[in-house]
Amino acid sequence: MDNDNSQSSNRAHWSSTFGFIMAAAGSAVGLGNLWKFPYLVGQNGGSAFIVIYALLLVFIGVPLVIAEITIGRFGQLNPVGSYGLISPKLKWVGAMGLVTGFILLSFYPVVGGWIIYYLYHSFVSFGENPDYAQIFANYTSNPTYPIITLFIFSVMNYLIVALGVEKGIEKYSKIMMPALLIILLIVTFRTLSLDGSWEGVKFIFHPDFSKVNGKTILVAVGQVFFSLSLGMGAMLTYGSYLSKKDNLFKSSISIPIIDTLVALLATIAIMPAVFAFKFEPTAGPALIFITLPAVFAKMPMGFFISIIFFTLMLFAALTSSISMLEGLVSYITDKGHMKRFGATTLVSIIIFLLGIPCSLSFGLLSHINIFPGKSIFDSMDFIASNILMPFGGIMLAICVGWIWDGGLRYETIIVRNQKGNPDVVTNGYVFNSCLKEITNQGTLNFPFMSAWIFIIKWVAPLVVLAIFIDNL
Ligand code: TRP
Repeated sequence: MDNDNSQSSNRAHWSSTFGFIMAAAGSAVGLGNLWKFPYLVGQNGGSAFIVIYALLLVFIGVPLVIAEITIGRFGQLNPVGSYGLISPKLKWVGAMGLVTGFILLSFYPVVGGWIIYYLYHSFVSFGENPDYAQIFANYTSNPTYPIITLFIFSVMNYLIVALGVEKGIEKYSKIMMPALLIILLIVTFRTLSLDGSWEGVKFIFHPDFSKVNGKTILVAVGQVFFSLSLGMGAMLTYGSYLSKKDNLFKSSISIPIIDTLVALLATIAIMPAVFAFKFEPTAGPALIFITLPAVFAKMPMGFFISIIFFTLMLFAALTSSISMLEGLVSYITDKGHMKRFGATTLVSIIIFLLGIPCSLSFGLLSHINIFPGKSIFDSMDFIASNILMPFGGIMLAICVGWIWDGGLRYETIIVRNQKGNPDVVTNGYVFNSCLKEITNQGTLNFPFMSAWIFIIKWVAPLVVLAIFIDNL
C-alpha cells in the first residue's frame, strides 16, 4: 500500500465538536479578519464591500468549506493522502496545498513577530510625541529585532503543534478563541463610546458603490479564500481529525459564521476609533501598526486597550499559523517517517529560515523584487493568496463536483416490473461517497443539498476561474 495512504488507527481526533469548531474557527480568524478586512472595507466603499463580500461568502466560501472538510473527514489523512484516496491522480492537489502552506508560513509569522513587538511596546512607551510611521519603518527594516520576534512567534507556534492535536491545538484554541472574542467586544465598546465614533460607524454602513468595480470583486473573492483558510488543505487537515459521528454540515457552517462575525466586529472596533481621532480610514496596511498605536495613545485607557488589542492579534495570528503548520506535520506523521515531535521540529526550522528573507525584505533586501514591484514578502503573499489558494479552490470544487466517485450527479432510475413496464421511477442525486460522508451514510439531513451541489459543480469553479482570467 502506498505510504501516503497508510491510515493508522491511533490517529488523533478532536475530543469534542466544540474543540473542532474553536480550532477551525481559529484557523479562519486571523490577520485577515483583524487587519485586512477592516482596511479593505475602508478602501472599497464601506458597506458596499461588505455586501459583496457577504454574497461571495455565502455562495462560494461556505460551500467550499463544507467540501474541503468533507474530503478530510472522508480520508482521515493529510491533504496528499486524502486527495489520493479520492483518486491517486489527485495527490498533486494536496501536494500543492503543502507548498502553499510553506509559502504562507514564510511571511505570516513575520507579522506575528511585529505583533509581539507592539505588544511589548504597549507596556514600554514609544516616548513623547512619537512618529508612528517612522517607528514602524524603523522596526520592520531593522536587520535583527524583527527576526528575534519572528523567532519568538515561531517557537510559540512550534510548541503548540508539537504538543499534539488534542493537548496542543485543541486545548489552546479553546482558550485563545473565547478570550479573543471577549477582548474584541471590550475594544468595540470602548471605541463606540468615544466622542465622534459615530462618523466611523456611518462610514462603514454607508455604501459607496462608486468605489466598486471588477477589481473589488476580485479583492473580495481573494479575501473570502484567505479569511476562510480555503484551498490549501488546512481545513481538510482539521476535518481529518473529526469523528465519523459528528454532524459535518453543522460543525462546518459555524466556521464562516464566527469568522465573519469577528471581521465585522473588528471593523466596528477599529474604524470608528480612527474617525474619532480624525485619522485616514483608507490607510491600508498601515492601519494596525501605524494608525492604531497613535489612536491608542490618544484614547483614555489607551494603554490597557493597546495591551489587550495586541494580545488579541497575537491569539488570532497563532491559531491561524498552527493550522498552517499542522497540515505539513500531518503529512510527515501520516507517512510514518517521523513522530510528531521530530516532524514539527524539522518543519519549524525550515519555515523559520524561510521567514528570514521575508522579514529582511522590509530592510536589507528591500531592493529585491520577485514579481515586478513586489518585495519578497509581498510576492509570497501574492503567490499564496492570489494564485495558489484560489487555484486550490477551483481544484477542490472540480474534484468534489466532477471527479470523486463519479462526481455529484442527478439520475433518473427506472425499476421495471415483470412485464417490462416502469414500476418505480425515482429522480435523485446519486448517493456517492461524498454525499454519504456529509450525511453520515444517509442518517443525517443535509440542508440546501441541491443548491450546494449546483454551486460546487458550476458556480464556484466558474466564478473563481472568471476572476482569475480577469486578474490576468
Ligand atoms: N485565515 C487566515 C486569516 O484570516 C489566514 C490564512 C490563509 C490561513 N490561509 C490559511 C490560515 C491557511 C491557516 C491556514 O488570517
